Amino acid sequence: MLTPFVPEFVLPQRLRDYPAKIGMVLGSGLGTFVDRCTETGQVAYEEIPNLPLSRVPGHSGRFVFAELAGVPLLIAQGRTHLYEGLTARQVTAGVRVMAQARVETLILTNAAGSLNPAFSPGEWMMLTDHLNLTGTSPLVGEPNFVDISEAYDPVLRATFRQTAQALNQPLHEGVYASTLGPQYETPAEIRMFRSFGADAIGMSTVLETIQARALGVKVAAFSCLTNWGAGLQADALDHSEVIATGKNAAGDFVKLLSAILPKL
Ligand code: HPA
Repeated sequence: MLTPFVPEFVLPQRLRDYPAKIGMVLGSGLGTFVDRCTETGQVAYEEIPNLPLSRVPGHSGRFVFAELAGVPLLIAQGRTHLYEGLTARQVTAGVRVMAQARVETLILTNAAGSLNPAFSPGEWMMLTDHLNLTGTSPLVGEPNFVDISEAYDPVLRATFRQTAQALNQPLHEGVYASTLGPQYETPAEIRMFRSFGADAIGMSTVLETIQARALGVKVAAFSCLTNWGAGLQADALDHSEVIATGKNAAGDFVKLLSAILPKL
């Protein structure tokens, strides 16, 4: 007998009624993306019972109802991370909320270090694939052997590639690796990850992608390259540099997305 589908969350009516088919998660420093959209409403994370909240004080976050190029988006502003001490299932709760709200396509963004000499800080990389180096999965506990060989939707990727070319906007493509964090990497780890085939390194996104694919939600994901990986730049890594570079690069992403959204 089939198990009846029981929705996990009790969603406020206005979130249930919001017609967005496209969801977004904003990474570190990319919160200003929302300022460039037309905001039409919001749901604070605290309004959804049992939604795990960030343990970083003042960072709990909200779902924003926003329009860009006339297309409604459901934007998660503020994500949780494994390094806060949450489980993989907890950090992906926002993805399950968006799927329950009938989002069909998820656009994930993150800040990442570059491991590829041809990909400079300040530029964007579209994920072609990932390395899950977190040692965990949001699907732990259920025997869900989901195929994620095309985790990042090839049709979406082609659309983004063609649109970036038409706009004359550089958009690299490569493999993103995620660690647990919260410390940045050692130079030896960076050399190892490079030899594994990683082009960028961060502490998010891969678990959200796995959760979305397990629910049949399509994924496109983008790294804002904010610094060189440890040992590849002369200066020590600094969180404020990551945030500042992310803020400056957000404008390019708004341009790209504005051109793409009407086509999706
Ligand atoms: N390493 C891990 N996470 C990051 C980095 C990095 O160099 N930059 C931004 N997020």
